[in-house]
Amino acid sequence: MNKRVTVPDIVAAKGKRKLTMLTAYDFPTARWVDRSGMDMVLVGDSLAMVVLGHEDTLAVGMEEMIHHTKAVSRAVQRALVIGDMPFLSYQASIEQAVLNAGRFLKEAHAQAVKLEGGTRVLPQVSAMVAAGIPVQGHLGLTPQSAAQLGGFKVQGKTAEAAKILIEDAQELAAAGCFSIVLEAIPAAIAARITEAVPVPTIGIGAGRECDGQVLVIHDVLGLFDRFVPKFVKQYARLSATIEEALTCYRQEVETGAFPGPEHTFTFDAKETDKL
Ligand code: KIV
Repeated sequence: MNKRVTVPDIVAAKGKRKLTMLTAYDFPTARWVDRSGMDMVLVGDSLAMVVLGHEDTLAVGMEEMIHHTKAVSRAVQRALVIGDMPFLSYQASIEQAVLNAGRFLKEAHAQAVKLEGGTRVLPQVSAMVAAGIPVQGHLGLTPQSAAQLGGFKVQGKTAEAAKILIEDAQELAAAGCFSIVLEAIPAAIAARITEAVPVPTIGIGAGRECDGQVLVIHDVLGLFDRFVPKFVKQYARLSATIEEALTCYRQEVETGAFPGPEHTFTFDAKETDKL
């Protein structure tokens, strides 16, 4: 087994090599992601949409996130496992934020947590870092605030909005975030943010100047076909492959072609006489 990726490894990679991150929500998927050599595995609250079929990410809570993070941690041997803090698990109070973040490390064996937001979550970030919990920030299109942002829209499109994003990123880094996800931000602004902070930026729809990239695994594998965001590249179309395989199975059962002799246990002929 290769050496486990650590938080200091992620920070040290800035400016030296591109970082890779992908989501996973269960044991077999997490094994594939880990074996592919990914630096970080995010148990994202995108779970709500791509696994549980909700319209947005708000529906998942701590229990579901802990349950799925446990499964991912059981599978991952090398990558850094990051648990995504769900809606209302950190916004209401600093104490609750630290206790919930701690559950990801203590019960679910993640090595870090991620939370969404800029200035307004700085007290939570500082308190978590003070408690020894590594925190990844998330700026730009923060899906938990989609209602406030007016939908799933590109952020930082005006100079004023872009300046706020740059300041937010600097404040998150100063509060102790070890890296910052930048979602749906014009590439030029993500590049400015990347230059402005001492920690790695991990882009999703934020251009190639970020220090690393993250995508949702269901998008990468073509497993989620409700919609495909502009920033997604599908490296496979597994939905179609899976549907073909399942249709073939159904047809073979209906026609009697499955199970064949090779899938069948035989009963000793001598024993048959005694029946
Ligand atoms: O929940 C998630 O999967 C995420 C990534 C898109 C960064 O937050």
